Amino acid sequence: MSSDTQKTFFIETFGCQMNFHDSEKVAGSLVSQGYRQVQSVEDADLIFYNTCSIRDKAEQKVFHRLTDFKRLQKQGKQFAVIGCVAQQEGERIFERAPHVSLVAGSASYNRLPEMLVQIAHGQRATGLDDRQTEDTFETDFTARVNPHRGYITIIEGCDKFCAYCVVPYTRGRERSRTSESVLEEARKIVESGLTEVQLLGQNVNSYQDPLGKHTFASLLAEVGRVPGIRRVRFTTSHPRHFTREIVQAIDEVPTLCDHVHLPVQSGSSRVLAAMNREYTREQYLERIAWMKSARRSIAITTDIIVGFPGETEAEFEETLSLMDEVGFDGIFSFKYSPRPNTPALTMENAIPEEEKTRRLAVLNDRQKEIQRASYQRFVGQVLETMVEGARRPLGQLPGRTSQNKPLNFTLPEGAPEPPVGSYVPVRVTRAHPNSLVGEMCPVSTACVVS
Ligand code: SAH
Ligand code: SF4
Ligand code: F3S
Repeated sequence: MSSDTQKTFFIETFGCQMNFHDSEKVAGSLVSQGYRQVQSVEDADLIFYNTCSIRDKAEQKVFHRLTDFKRLQKQGKQFAVIGCVAQQEGERIFERAPHVSLVAGSASYNRLPEMLVQIAHGQRATGLDDRQTEDTFETDFTARVNPHRGYITIIEGCDKFCAYCVVPYTRGRERSRTSESVLEEARKIVESGLTEVQLLGQNVNSYQDPLGKHTFASLLAEVGRVPGIRRVRFTTSHPRHFTREIVQAIDEVPTLCDHVHLPVQSGSSRVLAAMNREYTREQYLERIAWMKSARRSIAITTDIIVGFPGETEAEFEETLSLMDEVGFDGIFSFKYSPRPNTPALTMENAIPEEEKTRRLAVLNDRQKEIQRASYQRFVGQVLETMVEGARRPLGQLPGRTSQNKPLNFTLPEGAPEPPVGSYVPVRVTRAHPNSLVGEMCPVSTACVVS
C-alpha cells in the first residue's frame, strides 16, 4: 500500500484490444484524479479488474477471482469491477462479492471521476445504465502501455447482434468519434514519439463520422497521411461493411499496413444465416477477391467458430474448404461457447463438447499446413521490420512485419542493437508455421515493397 497520502491503484485486464486500450484510458483518468498507478495488487489501495465475457463461463472465473481478492479487504483495499462481465452481471456482483465497491460497464467510464469520489466516501458506485448513450469515452490522459504502438478507439459498441455474441449487450450501441478528434489523437501519438497507430472498434469499418466528413476508408487514408506516421493498423473489420474503397486506400497509402483481419466465423451460408452474420459464403469470398486483386499483397486473417448449434459435418467441411480457398495468413479459432442473453443459447441441436474439440483440432491442423506452405514464400525476401523488444538471451530480437507477422532476427557481427520502435531491413532465412526468422541487413538495403 502507498506510504504517502497519494492513493494508488492497480489495474488487471482481460479480453480484446479494445478492453486493453480502455484500461489505458481508465488508468489515465485515475492519474488525472491524483491516483498513482502501481504494478502489483499488494502495493495498491484500489484494485481495478477489467473483465471480458466473450467465452468459456467468463463470469464464473471473475467470481472466483473476486473471492481470492476478499482476503485483501482486511488491509483496507477497495475493489472495482469494470468491463463486459461488470455490465453483464451488474448488481449481482455486489451480492456475490460484497467487498466490491464499484461496478461499471464501458459505456459509463466518462463518469469514473464522480464514481471515485463516491467510493472514497465509503459509498458503492455503479455505472450500468448508460448502454444507450451516444457518448464515446475520450480523455486527454491516456496511460499508454505499449512502447511502440498507439491505439485509438474510433467506434465503440456493436449493433450487429450475432446470435452467439454478448458484445451488443455489454458494450452498448454503436457510436463513432468525430474524424477531427481521431486525427488529433493520431497527431498526439506521433508527438509522443510513436510511429505506429492502430484504429480500434468491435467493427472498426462500421465507422460513421458524426461530422459527415469521412468514410472509414477515407479516415484510414487520412490517418496514414499524418506526418510522422509509418504504420497504420485497424481491427476488427466486419465483412458486411467491408468496401472496395478500403482496399483502394491500402493500395494508395503506403503507411497503411498490408493486413486485414476479416472474421468469417463459418464457411457455410446456412450457418452464417443462423448466426445472423448477414453475409453469405459467396459475399465473403467476393471481398477476399477484392483484396487478392489489389496491387499490394495483402495478408488476410480471420476468426472461426466451430460447433455452432446445428452445424453438420458437411457444413463444417464447408469451413475447411473456404480455408483452402482463401489460404488465410492466420486464424483465431474457437469452440462455440454458450453465452447468457444470446439467442443461440436456446437453439436446438447443440454439438457435444467432444465433437467441438475434434472439429477444432481438425481445423487447426489444416490451417497449420496452409501456413507451413505459404510462409515459405518469404524466405529470401528482405522485409521492413519494426523492432518490438530488446534482444533475448538466445540472441534474437523480436520484430514484426507490416503484414503483422512476427519476424525474429539476429544481428550481423558487431552491429549495434537497434532501439525498440525503430524499423530495420531483415532478410528472412527460415519460416515456421506462425513466425519468420531472419538476419538484419545493412540499413541501406531495399525492402520488398508489397
Ligand atoms: N466484432 C468482431 C469480433 C468480436 S469477438 C466480429 O464480428 O468479427 C472476437 C471473436 O470471438 C469473434 O470473431 C468470434 O469468432 C469469437 N466469439 C464471439 N462469441 C463467441 C462465442 N459465444 N463462442 C465462441 N466464440 C465466440
Ligand atoms: Fe459480436 Fe457480431 Fe458484434 Fe462481432 S459483430 S462483436 S461477433 S455481435
Ligand atoms: Fe471481451 Fe468485451 Fe472485448 S466481452 S472480447 S472485453 S468487447
